[in-house]
Amino acid sequence: MRAIVQNTYGGPEVLTETELALPEPGVGEVRVRIAAAGVNPTDWKHRDGTIPYDHGLPVTPGWDVSGTVDKVGPGVTIFDEGDEVFGMLPYPYQPGGYAAYATGPARAFAAKPESIDFTQAAALPLASLTAWQALNDTARLTRGQHVLIQGGAGGVGHLAVQIARHLGAEVTATASAADADFVRSLGAAHVVDYRTTTISDVLTDADAALVPFTGQTRLDSLRSVRRGGVLVSLLGANDEALTLASERGVRYRSMMVQSDHAGMQAIADMAAAGALHAKIHSTLPLSQATEAHRLGEDGKIDGKLVLIP
Ligand SMILES: NC(=O)c1ccc[n+]([C@@H]2O[C@H](COP(=O)([O-])OP(=O)(O)OC[C@H]3O[C@@H](n4cnc5c(N)ncnc54)[C@H](OP(=O)(O)O)[C@@H]3O)[C@@H](O)[C@H]2O)c1
Repeated sequence: MRAIVQNTYGGPEVLTETELALPEPGVGEVRVRIAAAGVNPTDWKHRDGTIPYDHGLPVTPGWDVSGTVDKVGPGVTIFDEGDEVFGMLPYPYQPGGYAAYATGPARAFAAKPESIDFTQAAALPLASLTAWQALNDTARLTRGQHVLIQGGAGGVGHLAVQIARHLGAEVTATASAADADFVRSLGAAHVVDYRTTTISDVLTDADAALVPFTGQTRLDSLRSVRRGGVLVSLLGANDEALTLASERGVRYRSMMVQSDHAGMQAIADMAAAGALHAKIHSTLPLSQATEAHRLGEDGKIDGKLVLIP
């Protein structure tokens, strides 16, 4: 099968197209004929070695896939050959989405809603699961609570705004002025321009905050959460942040996204109901994975990149 492989850590050019043997699904696994593979910032952080791959190199990158179940392994009862599915391969230890086929645990997937296409389905899993696990499972956001979403126009942020609204929360999101209308259209009640305003000057009593940034932004976010509230960090912790959280009585949770059948099902239900939609920047052929990484890393694109094998 066709696949993108990297044999060394480095720039986008280390991604090379090659032929690999068709993988066989193990116990509890399915093999998916991939229709589309989503690209996420963690893909290039792994590619260049900022985050080394758990099982080393060579590796086929990518965690987000949509496609059709092509073979089921022993013990799989929830899918059959021919089912259309989408999901996130086990993060971080089992990538392999930049390929014509991938194998993964059946329960990493959910049935793809008929109302969304494969490109949309491949753009959703990792970023939506992150937002879902942060807001629903970790912050346990409930109706009427107020949540701060940092980076409300970003890959995780724009889905988090929609998920928070779905959970019935009031949303304050940060975004640059150019993205304010977009973030409002997703359901944010208040949009704060992070380039001109310090969030803690205008918000001090949020019940929860979702923060995909480090440094001053994370510290300011902690000052925006009420005593007893919770901050979910997507980029770990440091002593300064933990000390401030402790002084302010804010619970600090450092989260790493995980494969999650229940979470994928919730995402499928929201997408089917029209409550969750990923903004797509563009699709590229799998052979242009290098170009996709260049575009993504450049930081100038708006929305998700999706590779088509
Ligand atoms: N722990 C986990 O499980 C997990 C899961 C997913 C992602 N992540 C991490 O979370 C981060 C975000 O991922 P992503 O896919 O959302 O990235 P992204 O799409 O690149 O998000 C960047 C967005 O954030 C905005 N932004 C930049 N600096 C900001 C600031 N100081 N305050 C508010 N907004 C700001 C940008 O706005 P402009 O366009 O105006 O610059 C852009 O809209 C990445 O580092 C990723 O690796 C972690």
